[in-house]
Amino acid sequence: MTGRLTLPGDKSISHRAALIAALADGKSEISNFSTAADCASTLACLRELGISIERKDDKIVFAGSQKLVAPRRPLDCDNSGSTLRILAGVLAGHDFTAELIGDESLSSRPMRRIIEPLELMGARIESTDGKAPLKVHGSNRLKPITYKLPVASAQVKSAVLFAGLNVEGQSTVIESSPTRDHTERLFNGFGVPVTTNADRSVTLNGPARFAGGAITIPGDVSSAAYFVAAAMLLPNSKLSIDGVGLNPTRAAFLSVLSSWGADISTTGLQTERNEPFGTIEIRGGVNGTTTKSDRTLSRSMIPSLIDELPLLAVVGSQIGGGIQIRDAAELRHKESDRLATTAANLRAMGAEVEEFDDGLAVSGPTKLRGALIDSHSDHRIAMAFSVAALIAEGETAIMGTECVAISFPEFFTLLESLAKR
Ligand code: S3P
Repeated sequence: MTGRLTLPGDKSISHRAALIAALADGKSEISNFSTAADCASTLACLRELGISIERKDDKIVFAGSQKLVAPRRPLDCDNSGSTLRILAGVLAGHDFTAELIGDESLSSRPMRRIIEPLELMGARIESTDGKAPLKVHGSNRLKPITYKLPVASAQVKSAVLFAGLNVEGQSTVIESSPTRDHTERLFNGFGVPVTTNADRSVTLNGPARFAGGAITIPGDVSSAAYFVAAAMLLPNSKLSIDGVGLNPTRAAFLSVLSSWGADISTTGLQTERNEPFGTIEIRGGVNGTTTKSDRTLSRSMIPSLIDELPLLAVVGSQIGGGIQIRDAAELRHKESDRLATTAANLRAMGAEVEEFDDGLAVSGPTKLRGALIDSHSDHRIAMAFSVAALIAEGETAIMGTECVAISFPEFFTLLESLAKR
């Protein structure tokens, strides 16, 4: 893997920037907006809600001072959990009814986690046994709450904070483990003060409105992860990724890979609306010895590694002594059951894997062999096993690879251009 690249904008930051721009008083221009299908779903839902969004050159432009109106059709979130859960928070604070629907995978994912706090705030939400479709009956007179998150979820935290914009008084969310903090950073960056306290509580005083403005979304660090891992595992690699998001609640996999012997550095740190970004440099090879504690990922580390865990399991199969992932039962509620799909696919490639209710133990180092891989239409599984395929002996065929477009449509083209044979 050799080369220098930049990546399309971060998916999580793009969802939030679009929602903020739709609600803002002034004009907003978003550059390097994510190319992910998930973020297109957020824009499509906002258009159904009466927001006009223009594409101008490489920017998307929101006029500002727009008002959300009752949609005439159900809002289709397709495969996007962030769209459905965070938008439900926005809708909770608006005095109309809207229905949120999704594809088969999204319709099987748990939604009680947002229904509970939003109902405590005064919205009413109909569901099908705690799952989508959801009918949100919003109210512009929501009540303040102090809510302790029962699951570590940035989507749930964000739903409450977006609802808190239309609350008279203070909304507080308390996290047991820190999750990605893009909502807090962008709220502060667009003129709505949010305070993060030492006891991991996050507070917002409503009602509050955003000022509009310009933002360039940093490159998606979760997309960068696949190239970083591939470069690490292919000995003569030398790769630089510029302008990529380095928010510590997202980039934790870099220190994990370093502790497993990767040669990684980050340079040129800057910030955009409170979001740090910079260059990641990686040279191939795994050097040094790891300790057992380095090779266990658990507890409060899990939320900041959540989307990279299938990839880290693949890398773990190449690490002396293997690796363990625990306290990660949440992976069973992603686009697929990622503990089951990762274990099954690693085993198909010859790795020894033990599956627990809340994690995996992957033995290593193992010489992987090419195999038939089922992505289960899960973008992160398709990309993690593309990295496995690069280091495996023989041919790998991955079924259902079109799903990479959910977060990273350019993935295979870029991989092809960086991989030298
Ligand atoms: C996201 C939060 C995480 C993550 C997802 C994006 C977000 O989900 O897995 O890919 O943008 O807030 P949870 O909130 O369910 O942990």
